[in-house]
Amino acid sequence: MAGDPIKVCEISDLSTDKGYRVTSVAPPLAVFLTVDGAVHVLDDSCTHQDAALSDGWVDDCIVECPLHMSRFDLRTGMVDAPPAALPVRVHKAKVVNSEVWVTLSEEAPNLPPGTAPS
Ligand code: FES
Repeated sequence: MAGDPIKVCEISDLSTDKGYRVTSVAPPLAVFLTVDGAVHVLDDSCTHQDAALSDGWVDDCIVECPLHMSRFDLRTGMVDAPPAALPVRVHKAKVVNSEVWVTLSEEAPNLPPGTAPS
């Protein structure tokens, strides 16, 4: 059974050209606002090595990791370009009264080697 939604930020905290890092949960989350007005929430850890996707470059519905330029689909977490091989875990997001609420996935995260949830 899914947990209760948690508020992670205000919609005004977001912009379409960069991610927003949430550290109040472990592992941290990356929140993205796409040009179509949709909000997407993923684990903030690249699945290749220890890099924050919230520091990556956003192009339409794709985020590019700032370290080795793997690309991930913000809607599904699937890999769009290597070297990453595993998808990033995606969480359900909802905007209510300008607040972004997230229901955390119950799937195990695909954290990169050598890192642990913290
Ligand atoms: S750490 Fe993201 S592609 Fe290598």
